[in-house]
Amino acid sequence: MSTLAIHGGPRAVTVEPKECWPAPKEEIKALVCRLIDEGVWSKAGAGLALEFENAFRDYLGAGYCLSQHNGTSTLWSAYYALGLGPGDEVLHPGYTWICSISPAIHMGARPVFCEIDPQTLCIDPADLEKRITPRTKVINVVHLYGNVCDMDAIMHISRKHGIPVIEDASHCHGAEWDGRKLGTIGDVGAFSMQGEPPGGKPICGGEAGAVVTNRRELYERILFFCHLNRAGMAAEFTDETFHAMAPTNLGLKFRAHPWALAACLVMLGSLDERNAKRAAYRHKIERGLEEIEGITPLRQYPKAKPAGFYGGMHMIYHPEELGGLSADAFVAALHAEGVAMTQRGFELTHRLKLFAEGYDLYGKGGPLAGDYAGYPAGSLPVTEEVHPRILVMPTYIEENPGYSDQVLEALKKVTARYRDLL
Ligand SMILES: Cc1ncc(COP(=O)(O)O)c(C=O)c1O
Repeated sequence: MSTLAIHGGPRAVTVEPKECWPAPKEEIKALVCRLIDEGVWSKAGAGLALEFENAFRDYLGAGYCLSQHNGTSTLWSAYYALGLGPGDEVLHPGYTWICSISPAIHMGARPVFCEIDPQTLCIDPADLEKRITPRTKVINVVHLYGNVCDMDAIMHISRKHGIPVIEDASHCHGAEWDGRKLGTIGDVGAFSMQGEPPGGKPICGGEAGAVVTNRRELYERILFFCHLNRAGMAAEFTDETFHAMAPTNLGLKFRAHPWALAACLVMLGSLDERNAKRAAYRHKIERGLEEIEGITPLRQYPKAKPAGFYGGMHMIYHPEELGGLSADAFVAALHAEGVAMTQRGFELTHRLKLFAEGYDLYGKGGPLAGDYAGYPAGSLPVTEEVHPRILVMPTYIEENPGYSDQVLEALKKVTARYRDLL
C-alpha cells in the first residue's frame, strides 16, 4: 500500500466529489413562470399552495397539512398548537439545530436538553423520561440527518405521562417507522423545506416548510395562530371562538410564498427516487465500513427506514481501534487523500452560548434567566463525548462514477497505515 498522501504519497481519491443528479430546474422555472403570468404572487389555501399541501398530506398519509414560510415557523405553530407557554418545559435533544427549540423560548418556555444515543445520534428515550417534571409540556424529537428516533419508546413515554410529541422531520422527508411516514406518528410533525437541490432539505423551495397533524383541533389551532387571511379559513373552523375571530385571527401570517411551493411540488415528485438512490449510496459505504477498523455507521432500529438524509452521512469514529489516533488527525489524513469528510456536524445545542449561559430575553427575566441553571461543559456527558467522534461525508443521488470506490480505498489505506500517523 502506498505512502499516505499527508506524507507525500499519491492521493487515493482522484475522482471529484460532486453530485451528478440533474436538479429539475427547468420544471421549477416553468411552474414559477406560470404562477407569475397567472398573477399568483401571494395566495394561500387555494391554487398551487393548496395543491402542494394536499399532495404532501397524501404522500405522508397525514390528516392535515399546512404550508408555512420556513421550518422554524412550523415548529413555532406546533408549539402553539400544543398550548406551550410561560413556565412550561420542552424536552429536546442536546444535539440538533437551534431552530427546532428556539421558537419555544420565544413563547416563554424553557428547554430541557436530553442526551442523545451515541449510536444513533437521536434523542435517548431513557434519558428523556428521567427529565420529565410536572412542568414538562412537550417532547420534541428530531429525526436527525434522516436517521429515525425510537418512536415506539417515545410514544410509550408520551402516553404514559400524557405529554404530546412534536416530530421535527426537517431532515427526513419520506422516512418511515414501522411502515408509517415520520411526522405523522407524534401529535404534530414539522418539516423545514429550506435550501436548494441537491444540498437543501429533501423537498426544498428556498425558504418554505410544512406542518402536519392527524388531530383536527391541533390543525385548527395552527390555522388560528398564523394563517391570517387564508382563503376559506373561516368556514373551516369548527371552534366557535376561532370562527368569530377569523380571518384576522391572532394577526400572524406565516404562510409560504407560492413560488417556493412550486419548487416544493416539483421536488416532491422525485423524492422517493432520490431517497432510494441516496440510500443505496449509503448502503454501499456502510457495507465497505464492515471491513474497516475505527469507523462504524449509525445504528438503525429494526422498524426504521431512514430517508431524506439532509446533512450527509454520519458515522462514529473509535480511536481505541486505531491506537488512540485522534479524530482530528484521522480526518486530516483522509482530507489529504481527497476524501470529503468533516467532523461533528451541528454544534451541540445545549452548549451554544444562549443555552449554556442563559440570556435575559426581555430585559426582565424570561425562560433563560432567573433560576435558569444553564448547561456548563459536562452537563450532557454522553452527548459531549461522542460529538468530536462524529464523522460526516456527503451522500450522492448520482455519484461521480468511481468516487465511492476510491473513498473506501482511502479509508482502507489510512486505517491500515494509522501507525504512521501516531
Ligand atoms: C432540525 C431542524 N429543524 C428546524 C430547522 C429550521 O428550518 P428553517 O431553516 O426552514 O427555518 C432546521 C433548519 O435547517 C433544522 O435543521
